[in-house]
Amino acid sequence: MTGFNDFAIARALHVLAVLLWIGGVAFVTLVLLPACRDLAEPADQLALFERLEHRFAAIARGSVLLAGASGLWLVWRLGVWERFADPAGWWWMHGMVAVWTVFALMLFVLEPFVLQKVFAEQARRDPVALMARIARLHRVLLAASLAVLLGAVAGSHGGWHFG
Ligand code: HEM
Repeated sequence: MTGFNDFAIARALHVLAVLLWIGGVAFVTLVLLPACRDLAEPADQLALFERLEHRFAAIARGSVLLAGASGLWLVWRLGVWERFADPAGWWWMHGMVAVWTVFALMLFVLEPFVLQKVFAEQARRDPVALMARIARLHRVLLAASLAVLLGAVAGSHGGWHFG
């Protein structure tokens, strides 16, 4: 053995990816979106939001890929596939996969192929309502991500196994 610990490296990369990704979602949800919604001119709100947020989308896409790859590596190295057979005991393992799947769908499928068209149409009809809907969606996704994140850190370090 060379002392090369791929397991520790996969864990470090997993946390790095999650940090960039969920931290960015928190910034977009709690800082960027409210600031855009403060603009007086409704039509400008979505335009500014899209201009700023699309720079984060590229970071988010890369982070989602890295989190997924390192996560799969961890499952394989730990040999813990059987956790997925017990949703109640290992809810945060299912939570990670669920959060990952929702974001991957949003970033790689819905946003580029569906949402851009839907948003453009809704923005013409009622830009203020659209911004409210986008803000609500971000709050729900952020809350779910943070709940899973807390569960994953506590769960990985024995949070639910006392004594
Ligand atoms: C396909 C998606 C994912 C897979 C397969 C996956 C898999 C894993 C595995 C196997 C572990 C190690 C568990 C253990 O040590 O018992 C882990 C840890 C962790 N995961 Fe994920 N994960 C995924 C996505 C996510 C997402 C979306 C988040 C954030 C919401 C996340 C956050 C974490 C955190 C914070 C840890 C704990 C790191 C530590 O404290 O050591 N993961 N993940």
